Amino acid sequence: MILVTGATGQFGTNAIDHLLKKGVNPAEISALVRDAAKAQPLREKGIEIRVGDYTDHDSLVKAFRSVDKLLLVSSNDRQAVENRTAQHIAVIKAAKEAGVKHILYTSFVRKPGYEDSAIAAFQNSHVQSELFLKGSGITYTILQNGIYLEMIPIFAGQKVAETGVILFPAAEGKASYVLREELAEAAAHVLTTEGHENKTYPLTNTESVSFTEVAQTLSTTLGKTVYYQSPSITEFETTMKQFGVPDLYISMFIMWAEAIRQGTVDLQDNTLQDFLGRKPTTLNQFISHVYG
Ligand SMILES: NC(=O)c1ccc[n+]([C@@H]2O[C@H](COP(=O)([O-])OP(=O)(O)OC[C@H]3O[C@@H](n4cnc5c(N)ncnc54)[C@H](OP(=O)(O)O)[C@@H]3O)[C@@H](O)[C@H]2O)c1
Repeated sequence: MILVTGATGQFGTNAIDHLLKKGVNPAEISALVRDAAKAQPLREKGIEIRVGDYTDHDSLVKAFRSVDKLLLVSSNDRQAVENRTAQHIAVIKAAKEAGVKHILYTSFVRKPGYEDSAIAAFQNSHVQSELFLKGSGITYTILQNGIYLEMIPIFAGQKVAETGVILFPAAEGKASYVLREELAEAAAHVLTTEGHENKTYPLTNTESVSFTEVAQTLSTTLGKTVYYQSPSITEFETTMKQFGVPDLYISMFIMWAEAIRQGTVDLQDNTLQDFLGRKPTTLNQFISHVYG
């Protein structure tokens, strides 16, 4: 039995769809969800629904009974990054108690020097979670997922097609963006093939791109010039506040822009391409699909 956590989230839903596409019997898949009402589409696919919360130990132990392989989709808790670490550790402890044999954990790509980057705290949460998993004695596979291509429209701004301007303080920093669905497909590949025991995989695209290239690609797709401006952090903050963007989002944008400027997510690798058996979706293909 394979159990996918975060199954009513985007990554979890895609991972289950790819397991089904790969021919896994729905009776062999179960889904951990917080809200059973949200899980109706999964139920209709024949997936067994197990209700549990990363913060409720007993619910997890009960949900993980008879599970052989568990795909632990990392938490999206927005209150404090430490909450995420505690939740991942709780899942691993419960899995151990329930007798789970193999855990796949969705981590994040890391480069040497990440400790000094703008996303150090966020990376540290993944490092702590990985270390706890490695020390648990359960067979593990760590999927160090790259930054989602889906973050680009968020960073570029909802109205970029109308305004023709991207305001994002990442300067000429590059990142190796990947389609979330392809990362989920890679997770399904690892769940259904042999030889991934106690391995750590960086899953990124084969090339990195800057926001200047994002603007150029958008210009071509939209048939109008899109300008990229990288203001100072202070200017960016002031402008975002003037637009009424909530503080939580402003600090999230600044954190990622700085990390990209620092080159923290500029890491290219062929593992994802090998798992997919094709080239991962490029910036060009993604932009054409979203804005074309
Ligand atoms: N690589 C990247 O660029 C990137 C970007 C964003 C996020 N991420 C990470 O990747 C993860 C998956 O991405 P996604 O796009 O699928 O995010 P998502 O759609 O927000 O899904 C997150 C899932 O985690 C579940 N979850 C959160 N807290 C939980 C708890 N206490 N107990 C049980 N389940 C809980 C959510 O449950 P509900 O459905 O009940 O809300 C949801 O199903 C995120 O959670 C985050 O850690 C990576």
